[in-house]
Amino acid sequence: MDLDELIGRLDLCTKIRLLTGADMWSLPPIPEIGLDRLVMSDGPIGVRGEQWSAGDPSIALPSPTALAATWDRDLVTAAGRLLAQEARRKGVHVLLAPTLNLHRTPLGGRHFECFSEDPYLTAEVGAAYVMGVQAGGVGTTPKHFVANDFETDRFTVDVRVSEKVLREVYLQPFEWVVRAGAWGVMTAYNSVNGTTMTEHSDLVIGLLKGEWGFDGFVVSDWTAVRSTEAAGLGGTDVAMPGPHGPWGERLEAAVREGRVPEAAVDDRVRRILRLAERVGALRASEPPAAAPPGTQPHAGPGAAEQAGAEPIDGIEPIDGVALAREIAARAFTLLTNDGVLPLREVRTIAVIGAAASEARVMGGGSAQVFPDRVVSPLEGLGERAEIRYALGTDPRVRLAPLASPTRALFLDADGGVLAEHPLATGEARWIGQLPPGVDGERLTAVRLLTTYTPRVPGEHQLSVAGVGAFTVTVNGETVLDDTITLPGGDPATAFLSPPERRMTVPMTAGEAYELTVTHPAGTLGTMAFVSFTLGHADPSPGEEARMAEAVRVAAECDVAVVVAGTTPEVESEGFDRTDLRLPGRQDELVRAVAAANPRTVVVVNAGSPVEMPWAEEVAAVLLTWFPGQEAGAALADVLFGDAEPGGRLPTTWPRRLEDVPVVNVTPVDGAVPYEEGVFIGYRAWQRSGRTPAFWFGHGLGYTTWSYDSIVAEGSAVTVAVTNTGDRPGREVVQFYVSDGAERRLAGFDVVEAEPGQTVVTTVFLPERVFQAWEDGWRTVEGAYTVEAGRNVADPRLSVTVKI
Ligand code: BGC
Repeated sequence: MDLDELIGRLDLCTKIRLLTGADMWSLPPIPEIGLDRLVMSDGPIGVRGEQWSAGDPSIALPSPTALAATWDRDLVTAAGRLLAQEARRKGVHVLLAPTLNLHRTPLGGRHFECFSEDPYLTAEVGAAYVMGVQAGGVGTTPKHFVANDFETDRFTVDVRVSEKVLREVYLQPFEWVVRAGAWGVMTAYNSVNGTTMTEHSDLVIGLLKGEWGFDGFVVSDWTAVRSTEAAGLGGTDVAMPGPHGPWGERLEAAVREGRVPEAAVDDRVRRILRLAERVGALRASEPPAAAPPGTQPHAGPGAAEQAGAEPIDGIEPIDGVALAREIAARAFTLLTNDGVLPLREVRTIAVIGAAASEARVMGGGSAQVFPDRVVSPLEGLGERAEIRYALGTDPRVRLAPLASPTRALFLDADGGVLAEHPLATGEARWIGQLPPGVDGERLTAVRLLTTYTPRVPGEHQLSVAGVGAFTVTVNGETVLDDTITLPGGDPATAFLSPPERRMTVPMTAGEAYELTVTHPAGTLGTMAFVSFTLGHADPSPGEEARMAEAVRVAAECDVAVVVAGTTPEVESEGFDRTDLRLPGRQDELVRAVAAANPRTVVVVNAGSPVEMPWAEEVAAVLLTWFPGQEAGAALADVLFGDAEPGGRLPTTWPRRLEDVPVVNVTPVDGAVPYEEGVFIGYRAWQRSGRTPAFWFGHGLGYTTWSYDSIVAEGSAVTVAVTNTGDRPGREVVQFYVSDGAERRLAGFDVVEAEPGQTVVTTVFLPERVFQAWEDGWRTVEGAYTVEAGRNVADPRLSVTVKI
């Protein structure tokens, strides 16, 4: 399509209108040139859609650290294809993902949402993700460009980092995905060397669009565009959300007065139209006859080719539930195993821990989606053996949403019902958009109604988490009528970590209780903002009694499985971690259970490293990350050996926070200098001489391997490995370039073999491995040692490569 001809038909005002969101998630349609509304949505583990609400469920895949732990490009591409399918089902054109920032430090609050500490692994996994999504005709916005590797003061912090470090470390994943054909990029909130990223013309125009030849669109992180002229000249094409913002009429005036050239506006519009063409939102002339929702092909001409995949039409729908389960098992990382796993001849299992009944299947913040089912470890294991459950200790700060089908009524000023909406639990959330049929102008309150029948008698805890006025009734009687205020000034806290008010209500088992919560519905500007939760907890006999019960149950069963993990207060968007401890008394619980049963398996349900002071006292440690909606089903598959734990650590796992080489996330005078230079992750650990709990690349399977031979020919390195165990297995063969003192990942491949079978893999070492940035890429010629091994500290074979 001749995009310049279309641009020529638009007046300045219309062109500028296209550069700011029409609302929270979309760009405005321009029917006169055949441009549809362009809809964007988070990402990265599912597709939330325009409603931030359980009313619009999405498949929830394992979190990005888990995806990277598979080290499997094909599996990641398959995840991308599923996400494209979800996006198309929901009318979403652009997925706001993947997150390509690095695990610079385990304190980073969004660590779970990033792939790895290693730029090359991040780059390869990121490119596979982008290609998978885009093969389905849906755009991506690799984010957050660049150096958004921690959360403290994220809107304003200035990251001070040299060009060499940027080029060799933090930019590499972005460079890779741009080469892979990404259709979008999201600029970060933070500044880099004094300039906020939405205004960073050197990095956005000079490097991204210029040197790398990126032809896609650049969208701001939400609210990150804060200036008219500087951002207008800075290379960010789209300011989200809208419709208000610093562009609009002010940018129009800047163009008319010659402060921003019209060509800069035209270039932005061209990029948006190109995106629209790619995702099928730009129609040549007459719109085609309406197809049923979810069936319209988004892919424009050239879309599939660019993403390196077959055309989308005619492809069988992907079974998201099955894929979520497969990826989870392939990501689970077995850190230690004294032979207890896979479980054999197990009749009874003690399942222990809060996360066993309410697994944390995803991290908090914008990465949240609402799956229509979650399989807890308790449910998953319950299918395979006789289970005895004990909570032990409860590290959760807020009560879990009441697990009871709930009706949400949207009320007008007279108490009339504008609409009714079913919810699976007591969690009510509509951010950006109200459910269909609700007129925001007339809405004055939202009421939740549910009938709850307790299984156990006693003092039940109810809670409301949210901000504003709340009235809670039980069987018509008011038990709370109060206003909860927002602590601190960050409005995102209202939904990321809202304050909670609790009530104690005596209940009789088997009796039905009518519960209501009424809350005046609010808007933020013109955007819907309804976010509160009715929480619940059964009567508690007290922590000591619960601990004792867990120990008793563990002692009486063949095997104990303790599920221990982090909480939303520890790992989420908007803040960093202050320590790496498992919250609450979970360490104590693990030790007590392990003392009672030598066959104790600890399942670690965390998106990023936690200290495990008991690691050597338990029979096995299995890391499940944030495992996505099929958590429990995949756990049963892996514990019982139907599937091998396929994961390898994409990040080095420290023993203690004190040992971690890079921890600085606290700005001084508004800045965080990346003083460690290129030395993050395992490169920093190697240099420090300290030994972590588990090295980058570590992970056990259920079989054993011999590394037999290695041959190099040019940049191609071929390795033969043999499965020396007695069951089929999968191995991640890792290649490191080493100078004796330091190893760096240079290639990897996943191989599968039957018992006794030898398999051969060849990887091509990327040129970049042998290059350094010195005002340009310079290949450092010489003889390099290339090692093949099982993790960065476990080389098995080596060969010399001359460059
Ligand atoms: C996050 C982005 C996200 C955006 C939209 C921001 O706060 O940093 O990752 O895509 O919100 O939800």
